[in-house]
Amino acid sequence: MKHFPKDFLWGGAIAANQAEGAYLEDGKGINITDLARHGFQNIADDNINPDEFYPSHEAIDFYHRYKEDLMLMEEMGFKAFRLSISWARIFPTGEEEKPNEKGLEFYDNLFDEIIKRGMEPVVTISHYETPYALVEKYNGWEDRCLIDIFLKYCKVIFDRYKDKVKYWMTFNEINNIHIIPYAAGAIKIDSYSLKEKMQITYQASHHMFVASALANKLCHEIIPDSKIGCMLSLSAVYPNTCNPDDVFEAMELRRRSLFYSDVMLRGYYPGYINRIFEEFHVTLKKETGDDEIIASYPSDYLAFSYYRSTTHVAGSPFMGNTGGVTGASNPYLDTTPWGWQIDPKGLRFVCNELYDRYQKPLFIVENGMGNIDVISEDGKIHDDYRIDYLRRHLVEVSEALKDGILIIGYTYWGPIDIVSAGTGEMKKRYGFIYVDKDNEGNGTLKRSKKDSFYWYKKVIETNGDSLF
Ligand code: BG6
Repeated sequence: MKHFPKDFLWGGAIAANQAEGAYLEDGKGINITDLARHGFQNIADDNINPDEFYPSHEAIDFYHRYKEDLMLMEEMGFKAFRLSISWARIFPTGEEEKPNEKGLEFYDNLFDEIIKRGMEPVVTISHYETPYALVEKYNGWEDRCLIDIFLKYCKVIFDRYKDKVKYWMTFNEINNIHIIPYAAGAIKIDSYSLKEKMQITYQASHHMFVASALANKLCHEIIPDSKIGCMLSLSAVYPNTCNPDDVFEAMELRRRSLFYSDVMLRGYYPGYINRIFEEFHVTLKKETGDDEIIASYPSDYLAFSYYRSTTHVAGSPFMGNTGGVTGASNPYLDTTPWGWQIDPKGLRFVCNELYDRYQKPLFIVENGMGNIDVISEDGKIHDDYRIDYLRRHLVEVSEALKDGILIIGYTYWGPIDIVSAGTGEMKKRYGFIYVDKDNEGNGTLKRSKKDSFYWYKKVIETNGDSLF
């Protein structure tokens, strides 16, 4: 039995705000990341401080160098390349009457190049890149008017790229609205009480559910042969012990995330959420027809990121929804230098968990290892640790396929070094391609291949057989 199906979408994934740079070029507006100097785990500035350095403003200059970068992806044999459209390049403040033609042209050229190099473009419509003006004016998705603003943006990009892009996803890691609300929901809620935070977060989520369902509808109308998915952060959650309290709470913690895919894939609010709403005194404002919209236009597939697993101890803080933030350490697992527990089998576990629950195609659109790469005396980067991480995870993907799970593809996160979303640094590198740039902005931006580049190329060339 072959390990991977022959049309498996091998590839890599990046986001515009972490790679493109050119943050004010060709009419682009300011987006939320442009103000997040130290990444989303920290508080973002209200204005750009001219005396400070913002790594994402130039990032790796993908905006001007994408041709060279895509040539390297082609050399690795990528079948798919996941990227996001920077919303503020198309609508600088979100509310212009007409889109910014220069921004649209950029993505036209980019998609043409991706296709020319034999890859399928996989597009995230909103990857932590909401135009900042929408935060100032509406507090982002807290306000229902974002639904129409988002749909206007969707209509423009679906119409424009209908012949080029068949794979779409609406919101990157929508469930992360609970741990990084500014990034995932464009809401600023730091100064609010817990009750207010929960109210705003779930209300914003509701608006995003309606928007996502209507985007699904629009996408299918404009691009009949398209697939449009939802995207969640779904690293595994384990109970710390077999104590039923740990087991039960781990399940409850997991549900805080699965709530999002439950609504977007099954098309209705699950019963268990009522108890959470009661506990936090959340009163959701829905309009007539919202439930029908959510029921009528579910996502076609479930895309997710998987980096690690977390271990939950009963009674420990419960605010996180994806785990990893508050979890206990797992004595069976090693960690990356950023403390992320490396758990390949967890990926197989999650694939089984999700497919059992939904029976919809899964797309692993992020998985990867952030590490400190050191240039050796021979001038090269021998990143065996990354190869090891990847090999062990891909073996588990093949096991999941043998378990009977339908997995469309695997796009490794950060095939080229980019700015970290969580911490805003260059030092945390994921790439198979090294980019000469440091945290302070020094470097030539030159690209070079790490050992993992050749290794992944071989995996794709053999459709996974070289893993064994
Ligand atoms: C995911 C995001 O949460 O994790 C990416 O979708 C991000 O944007 C990735 O880069 C890895 O996180 P970090 O903080 O290491 O960049």
